[in-house]
Parts: sequence; C-alpha cells; structure tokens
Amino acid sequence: MEFLHSPNRSIKLSLIFPIFVLLFFSCIVSSTNSHDNTFIHCLVNHSQPSHPITSSIFTPSNPTFSSVLEAYIRNLRFNTSTTRKPYLIITALHVSHIQASIICAKKHNLQMKIRSGGHDYEGVSYVAEVPFFILDMFNLRSIDVDIENETAWIQTGAQLGEVYYTINKKSEIHGFPAGVCPTVGVGGHLSGGGYGNMMRKFGLSVDNVIDAQIIDVNGKLLDRKSMGEDLFWAIRGGGGASFGVVLSYKIKLVRIPKRVTVFQIRKTLEQNASDIIYNWQHVAPNIDNDLFIRLIIDVVNVTQNGTQNGAKTIRGSFISLFLGDSKTLVSLMNEKFPSLGLKESDCIETSWLQSVLFWTNIDITKPVEILLDRQPQSLNYLKRKSDYVKKPISKKGLEGIWKKMIELEGAILYFNPYGGKMAEIPSTETPFPHRAGNLWKVQYQANWNVAGKDVADYNINLTRQLHKYMTPFVSKNPREAFLNYKDLDLGINHNGKNSYNEGRVYGVEYFKDNFDRLVKIKTKVDPHNFFRNEQSIPTQPSL
Ligand SMILES: Cc1cc2nc3c(=O)[nH]c(=O)nc-3n(C[C@H](O)[C@H](O)[C@H](O)COP(=O)(O)OP(=O)(O)OC[C@H]3O[C@@H](n4cnc5c(N)ncnc54)[C@H](O)[C@@H]3O)c2cc1C
Ligand SMILES: *[C@@H]1O[C@H](CO)[C@@H](O)[C@H](O)[C@H]1NC(C)=O
Ligand SMILES: *[C@@H]1O[C@H](CO)[C@@H](O)[C@H](O)[C@H]1NC(C)=O
Ligand SMILES: *[C@@H]1O[C@H](CO)[C@@H](O)[C@H](O)[C@H]1NC(C)=O
Ligand SMILES: *[C@@H]1O[C@H](CO)[C@@H](O)[C@H](O)[C@H]1NC(C)=O
Ligand SMILES: *[C@@H]1O[C@H](CO)[C@@H](O)[C@H](O)[C@H]1NC(C)=O
Ligand SMILES: *[C@@H]1O[C@H](CO)[C@@H](O)[C@H](O)[C@H]1NC(C)=O
Ligand SMILES: *[C@@H]1O[C@H](CO)[C@@H](O)[C@H](O)[C@H]1NC(C)=O
Repeated sequence: MEFLHSPNRSIKLSLIFPIFVLLFFSCIVSSTNSHDNTFIHCLVNHSQPSHPITSSIFTPSNPTFSSVLEAYIRNLRFNTSTTRKPYLIITALHVSHIQASIICAKKHNLQMKIRSGGHDYEGVSYVAEVPFFILDMFNLRSIDVDIENETAWIQTGAQLGEVYYTINKKSEIHGFPAGVCPTVGVGGHLSGGGYGNMMRKFGLSVDNVIDAQIIDVNGKLLDRKSMGEDLFWAIRGGGGASFGVVLSYKIKLVRIPKRVTVFQIRKTLEQNASDIIYNWQHVAPNIDNDLFIRLIIDVVNVTQNGTQNGAKTIRGSFISLFLGDSKTLVSLMNEKFPSLGLKESDCIETSWLQSVLFWTNIDITKPVEILLDRQPQSLNYLKRKSDYVKKPISKKGLEGIWKKMIELEGAILYFNPYGGKMAEIPSTETPFPHRAGNLWKVQYQANWNVAGKDVADYNINLTRQLHKYMTPFVSKNPREAFLNYKDLDLGINHNGKNSYNEGRVYGVEYFKDNFDRLVKIKTKVDPHNFFRNEQSIPTQPSL
C-alpha cells in the first residue's frame, strides 16, 4: 500500500478505477478499522479522476504520517505521545479534495479539523478530544499579485512571509497589514482578524479583504457574490472554521514608503522604565498613525557594574515601525515622547520587507528569502492569553504589576497600541469588535522548553495568575479577548445540547455584540453544526 500514500505520486484513476478501488481496500483493511475504510472509500469515490485524492491521504500506518502531522505543530504542548492523533490527514491538492472531505466527513459523522499554518495557540486546528481527521491546507498556497489593481488573491495555505515576499517582488511600495511572524498561516490569521505593526495606519488584515472563496457545508465553492454579505462578513474575524473551509482571500494591497525606520530601545526600572512606560500609555495610542511602538515587559536580572547581584528587575522593550525616515521619526519622538530619549543612532532605515525580519528577531542583513522558510526560527511550549486596556494605569498600579511579575517570574506582557485607524472603524464593520475606546491589547505569554505536564501546568498557571492580577486594569463586562490569541481558559464548547450557552461564554468576550449576528449566520449556513470545534460559533438554540 506504500504507493497509495506517497505524496509525490499521483495515480491515474480514470480507467482502472473499479479495480483500483478493490485493491485499495484489500490493502488497507489490515491496518485501520472499518470506520476509516468507509470514510476513505467515500473520499476516493468523491474525488475527481483528474485529481485523485489518494496521494493526499495519510493514515497512521503510513511511515510519513508523523512527519506530516508534526510539520505544522507550532506549540510543543501538543506534540506529546498522549495527544490524541487524527484518524488520518488529508493534504488537499485540489478544491475537489476539500469538497470530498466535507461531504464524506458529514456522511460518516467525523469531526474535521482545518489546518493552514498550525499556529493556533491551543492546537485547535490539529488536536481534538473526539475522533477526528485533519484537512491540511499547506499545499494550497498560491499568491497572485495584481499590482495594476493593487490587489492579490492569496490561498489560505500560504504563510505571511510568503505573502510579504511575493508582494515585494512585484512592487517595493506595496505591502499588506498582517502579523509579525512569517510562518503564521493565512487561513487562521485572516479568518480570525489578523493584526500587525501597520494596524494604526491601515487597520486589521480583515479591514483590507475584498473577496474570498469558501467551500460550504454542502461542498459548494462560493465567492463573495454567491456567499452573500453575511457570510463574507463572518469570515473576516469570526473564525473561518465555524463556517466552512476558506480556500482564498482577495486582499487590497496598501501603499508603503520604499524606506521605513525601525528601532528597539530597552529600559530597566533602574533606567526609569516605570516613568517611560507610564508615558508610553498616553503617547503610543495617540501618536501619528505612521508610528507603531510595541512594548514588551519582562523580568530580568539586575546587572550592576557588569555583574549580576542576584536581584530581579523589570525591563521594558520598545520596538517600533515607522512608515517614514529616521529624521522625521526622531523629531516626532523628541516632541511627543522625549522620555524614551530616541537618537538617530538607535534607528535603522530599511525596506519594509527587511523590517519584517527585524520584527521577528532575524538579522536584517540576511537574504529576505528566509521569509519563505516554512520552519519557524524556534519552537517552544507555550501559553497565551489576552486583555484590553481602556484607561491608562496609574504609577502605583504599574508598580504593583512589576511586583507581581517579579514574584511570578516567567510571565511576559506584550502591549500593542491601538488608536489611529483602529479607532475609526465601527465595531460592527467586521466580527472583530475591539475598536474605539481600546488603548492597547495585552498579550500574556509563557514560553518554556522542557517537556512534561508539571512544567506545563506551572507555566500556564503563571499566565493565569498574572491575568487574574490584571483584572482591575482591563476591560470588564465583558472582559474582552482576541480570537487569534485562542485561550481555552475562556470556556470550551462540547457541541451538545448546551452548545449555545457554552458558546456565549467565550463568544461575547471575543465578539461582544457581534456574537449574536455570528450565531444567526452560523445557523443559516451550517444548521447542523458540522463546522465545530472547542470554541466555534454555536447555532441558535432550537425552540
Ligand atoms: C509565533 C506566532 C506569532 C503570531 N503573531 C500574530 C500577530 O502578529 N498577529 C495576529 O493577529 N496573530 C498572531 N498570531 C496568532 C495567529 O494569528 C493565530 O494563531 C492564527 O489563527 C494562526 O493561523 P494559522 O493558519 O497559522 O493557524 P491554524 O492553527 O492552522 O488555524 C487556526 C484556526 O483557524 C482555523 N482555520 C485555519 N485555516 C482555515 C481555513 N482555511 N478555513 C477555515 N478555518 C481555518 C483552524 O481550524 C483553527 O481554528 C501568532 C501566532 C503565533 C504562534
Ligand atoms: C459513490 O458516489 C456516488 C455518487 O457520486 C454515490 O451514489 C455512491 O453511493 C457512492 N458510493 C460510496 C461507497 O460512497
Ligand atoms: C515532536 O514529537 C516527536 C515524537 O516524540 C519528536 O520526534 C519530535 O522531535 C518532536 N518535535 C519537536 C519539534 O520537538
Ligand atoms: C484589473 O481589474 C480590471 C477590472 O476587474 C481587469 O479588467 C484587469 O484585467 C485587471 N488588471 C490586471 C492586470 O489583471
Ligand atoms: C530618570 O529620571 C530622572 C528624573 O526625571 C532623571 O533625573 C534621571 O537622569 C533619569 N535616569 C536615567 C537613568 O535616565
Ligand atoms: C539570571 O539569574 C539567575 C540566577 O538568579 C540565573 O540562573 C540566570 O541564568 C540569569 N539569567 C540571565 C539571562 O543571565
Ligand atoms: C559600581 O561602580 C561604581 C563606580 O564605577 C562604584 O561607585 C560602585 O560602588 C560600584 N557598585 C558595586 C555594587 O560594585
Ligand atoms: C495557580 O496554582 C496555585 C497553586 O497550585 C493555585 O492555588 C492557584 O489557584 C492557581 N492560580 C490560578 C489563577 O489558576
């Protein structure tokens, strides 16, 4: 049966189809149970002779099954021997493979997980509590850039680095506002909102999406016109996996200068970090839209006269992208944010594409082709949570946070300033509701590199404790959260009788008042809740 699974071989099914199917089943019977058999039978039966699906099917008995599964596991927390493995993986090469997957999974009542880049923080695209299979999109990654019209069609299996690189090859003055990490997949990123360091100027990725292709629960391929404005609205921030399989998005390119400026300045408490961070709160969400200043706060050892004395301190790292030159930036900063003390020598003028390297901690003198690399710079065990801040935190409040962080040591905060374009777009424009009124988004991080449940529990607990401590400083009723920072602590859906009530719990945190519209759309396009997961949009409760 080896040849059946070889990813590099395709088999012409047209003439030998009946014989082939017979052979196929006699081989596979020994290694998998009958549930798989009828499912595979159905897949083969539904694939088009011109695009055989067999070479895209990987069952656990296939020698490359583990490497296919692990290729897009981006959180080592879900790479353990006890993590439930899929029945099989379908590495779709053609739209008909997606259609067959949906039709057959529905028929056999199998849970489908859709994976594009695999960066889901909770592994929702490749892990499940119930028997499941993975529809893997990585082969479907074409990027067609139309500079004349300033648009591009990008397939969901593409990663952000490939999108940026391909746009830049066509035009140095065009870009796209999306996430910082080049290996993040288009499928999850865009369907969940997608933000990056140009959001204060251009909004989210989904604010720049103008068309899409989706395969619905009936296996129908739809575009914006045929899916209608409701579904098109939902898959721009509501999470694609609740509604269908998104095949591609058409994006509007944005104009960027040929040269941009980046810097990173770090300050510890001994270097007045408290005062500077206090000022940052007032400056970063209000300054020129061309300027984005991310703030990372972590705990480091105190270094005195070149040696560590055993004490811990807080460090603020100010990382910035300015869509302009360094002279303009320095004078803007001196006027609006003098306490940071930015000097021209702190600034690096570079191309927008190289600024992506800078932001992801890659040496910017490296060839930009590194953005095409599908292996991330590093893999970790990790946990993420999110929050939104609507009022600046007092100095006393900040000092309490520092004390808590030093006590916990190991939980990191990322502050991403909003304002600018983000505040101009109405909160109902897309499912993503966190617009005007939010000063910045908080991301809680714990990263570790040791296997084991105890270590994981310890680190996850750190993020929970810090999140709990932050309660007085962040949004409430609801406490808002960002879907792309998937956090199962907010609640899990068992997709049973109580699915609507379970869904409401995390749903209003991710979507606020947009939750109800998402539920209506879900009920219309997928009434039997085929497209479901641990935090999907539920259908309306039946009356
Ligand atoms: C290192 C790292 C950096 C990040 N940086 C940013 C950032 O700067 N900005 C930001 O906004 N987010 C960021 N994120 C979060 C990221 O945007 C989300 O995790 C996103 O969902 C990942 O998309 P993916 O395709 O890689 O993930 P996947 O794990 O493949 O998918 C995520 C979710 O989307 C669903 N899905 C995937 N593809 C499809 C499809 N084709 N159709 C329907 N549903 C689909 C999956 O089923 C799953 O529920 C980052 C994550 C990581 C790990
Ligand atoms: C094969 O597909 C046809 C329709 O395309 C259907 O009638 C038939 O029942 C299918 N057979 C199996 C085993 O799925
Ligand atoms: C994931 O787990 C497998 C099996 O234990 C192991 O071989 C592989 O190295 C792991 N991947 C990473 C990136 O650690
Ligand atoms: C730009 O769009 C127009 C209208 O949709 C189309 O006719 C034209 O071919 C497009 N340009 C390119 C280069 O594809
Ligand atoms: C910290 O701020 C004080 C008062 O604003 C100033 O006098 C001092 O020089 C600053 N220290 C550093 C290290 O910048
Ligand atoms: C910080 O200090 C601890 C001991 O308190 C040490 O184990 C650790 O390696 C130090 N970290 C760095 C980055 O120097
Ligand atoms: C650090 O060096 C300064 C002078 O260079 C000295 O006055 C001070 O005592 C030193 N501190 C420690 C902790 O060694
Ligand atoms: C973290 O762990 C401690 C000790 O096990 C526990 O008491 C506490 O409730 C946990 N905190 C959170 C927020 O989960």
